[in-house]
Amino acid sequence: MSTENFDAVDIIRIKRDRGTLSPAQIDWAIDAYTRGVIAEEQMAALNMAILLNGMDRSEISQWTTAMINSGERMDFSSLRNSDGSVKLTTDKHSTGGVGDKITLPLAPLVAVFGVAVPQLSGRGLGHTGGTLDKLEAISGWRAELSNEAMMTQLSEVGAVICAAGAGLAPADKKLYALRDVTGTVEAIPLIASSIMSKKIAEGTGALVLDVKVGSGAFMKTRENALELARTMVNLGTDAGVHTVALLTNMDTPLGLTAGNAIEVEESIEILAGGGPADVVELTIALATEMLAGAGIRDVDVAAALKDGRAMDKWRAMISAQGGDNDAPLPVAKESDVVYAPADGVLTGLDAMDVGVAAWRLGAGRARREDPVQAGAGVRLHAKPGDVVRRGQPLATMLTDTPERFERARPLLESAATIAPMGSRPEMSLILDRIAAT
Ligand code: URA
Repeated sequence: MSTENFDAVDIIRIKRDRGTLSPAQIDWAIDAYTRGVIAEEQMAALNMAILLNGMDRSEISQWTTAMINSGERMDFSSLRNSDGSVKLTTDKHSTGGVGDKITLPLAPLVAVFGVAVPQLSGRGLGHTGGTLDKLEAISGWRAELSNEAMMTQLSEVGAVICAAGAGLAPADKKLYALRDVTGTVEAIPLIASSIMSKKIAEGTGALVLDVKVGSGAFMKTRENALELARTMVNLGTDAGVHTVALLTNMDTPLGLTAGNAIEVEESIEILAGGGPADVVELTIALATEMLAGAGIRDVDVAAALKDGRAMDKWRAMISAQGGDNDAPLPVAKESDVVYAPADGVLTGLDAMDVGVAAWRLGAGRARREDPVQAGAGVRLHAKPGDVVRRGQPLATMLTDTPERFERARPLLESAATIAPMGSRPEMSLILDRIAAT
């Protein structure tokens, strides 16, 4: 006779029939799935019922708590400032976009103001790049740190970007792999609980969510992005984490680079006080929110980029993880150029097309175990709003394997929309701000 408290089929039927699961049923479902008592096909059916019928706020919160409880929780409460006071922690999560290298300048920038930034990151899959893949372009840099090494770096440098350990929300790893192959990644309750279980288990005191919306994002419509943002802000708030979300445009890539080494290069330009205006704007906006979440207001964030303090932190952060700040970044062996087909104003540069082109050139991976090319990617020479002339370079393709050019070129050609002179594209970057309700 089974000693289990519930039956998987009963739980699937409740969600199939638009019912509400009790906290005990949710705790059991996540625990039983992690133990292998609920079969993969049963969890797939439950995920599909959730995708179709949704979950209410208390169900999503319980689902998230159950995933957190499947693993360890990090604890930064022992971190101290030099005067003995508790060091506050703040973190950022982006739902993923093309050219999104913001974490690289952001973590050291925020650490300048004495707040610790424990940035647990991932590798890329598909058309969006992964923060760890980018940093691994730096000679010697190590993504894997023990919890002790992470604490030491947070106390001595103030910022760390490293791989999330396997112990954080292990139920999510199993569930995410299943969602990936059963068409259930897009369920907002499942996305929100997946992201927030890892962020809450990570133990940060404040969190800023950069929820991308547009062609290169998970969420294609503003309505869906708002729902995801509100759901995540509520989850963070209910768990005692000061959480705010910015809704930001991902119809066009961020900055002028999409790849690994070339995104590190652009991040270093930002830290040197230069770089593309959109990357600077978003880095400052997110840093301001992260600091406000930790109670720090009225500081001049932009000045710390201009005067070299953020760069000093970056160099300390990179060398603490074995990276050689002075080694040249890898360069792709081959390059080829895509030219503008007409005179006019560039009114669109489709983020998804550019992201897939960078991926096809070797910057991203199709399967988790694939390697990435550090030097591969796309360097853009024009952004929406710029006037372009027929025959002028629009983008440079970079790869070690030139046979990839012909698979990337059509995407970059179709990515660009060129309208008659005088046209003005819609170019807002920060679309909305969502705080707790
Ligand atoms: N990122 C995650 O961590 N989980 C999701 O479900 C989607 C994006």
